[in-house]
Amino acid sequence: MRIDILTLFPEMFTGPLSVSIIKRALDQALVTINLHNVRDYAHDARRTVDDSPYGGGAGMILKPEPVFEAAEAVKTDIAVGEATSKTNVILLTPQGRPFRQEIAQELSTCPNLLLISGRYEGIDERVIQHLVDDEISIGDYVLSGGELAAMVIVDAVVRLLPGVLGSEASLDEESHTRGLLEYPQYTRPAEYRGWTVPEVLLSGNHGEIAQWRRLQAIRRTRTRRPELLALANLSPAEREITNH
Ligand code: 6GU
Repeated sequence: MRIDILTLFPEMFTGPLSVSIIKRALDQALVTINLHNVRDYAHDARRTVDDSPYGGGAGMILKPEPVFEAAEAVKTDIAVGEATSKTNVILLTPQGRPFRQEIAQELSTCPNLLLISGRYEGIDERVIQHLVDDEISIGDYVLSGGELAAMVIVDAVVRLLPGVLGSEASLDEESHTRGLLEYPQYTRPAEYRGWTVPEVLLSGNHGEIAQWRRLQAIRRTRTRRPELLALANLSPAEREITNH
C-alpha cells in the first residue's frame, strides 16, 4: 500500500511513524508513506495557504489551489510508478463519517490512500466537491487539525495489512473486529496482592475458556457499549443472555 499525506505540519508525523508496528511495516516495505507540505504548493513568496471566508465570519479557510496542486502532483507520481493508480482521496474533518473498524478494513484493501489534513476553520468547499472521495471524522470532539486523525487512520489501517502483525489470528480476537469489546486478559502471576486470576483460565480446558471469554465479551459490551451489541452477531442463546 502507498499512503500520501497532505499537511501543513509534516513534522507532527515523525514520532508516530518511527516506532513500533508502523515503523516495522515501513522497514519491511509493506507500506510506503509520503508526507507533503501543502505550503510547498503555495503560489506566492509568502507561501500563503489560507484566506478569509467569502461572506464574512471568523477564522481562515484553506485555499483550494495549493491543495488541488499537491494532490495532482501525488496522483501524477502514482500514475507513473504504480500498476494500480486508483487513489482514494480522504479528507479528515469533524464533518466526515465516523471512523470505525469496518472503514479501516475497507481502506486496508486500497492500493493508494491520499489523506488530506485540514487546518483552520475549514477548507474551500470546491476541494470537497471536486477532489475528495470520502470524508472521515475520528469522533465527536474538536481537534486543532486533521493530522492526529490522519495518524489514527494510518495506524488502524497499516496494522491490518497482510504481514504487518506477527500472528494474523490475534486480529479476529481483538475488540471491534467481531462487533464486541474484548474479554479481560491476565498473565502471571496467578495471584498478585491477593487478587486472583479467574479459575477457568488456569484450567487448560480450551472449550470452557472460549465460552467464558465469549460471555465476558458480551457482558462487557452490554455494560459499556450497548449500542454495539445491537449490531453484533450473536446466537439466539447469547441474545438471551443480554436480556438479563
Ligand atoms: Cl478528522 N479533524 C478535526 N479537526 N477534528 C476532529 C476530527 C478531524 N475528527 C474528530 N475531531
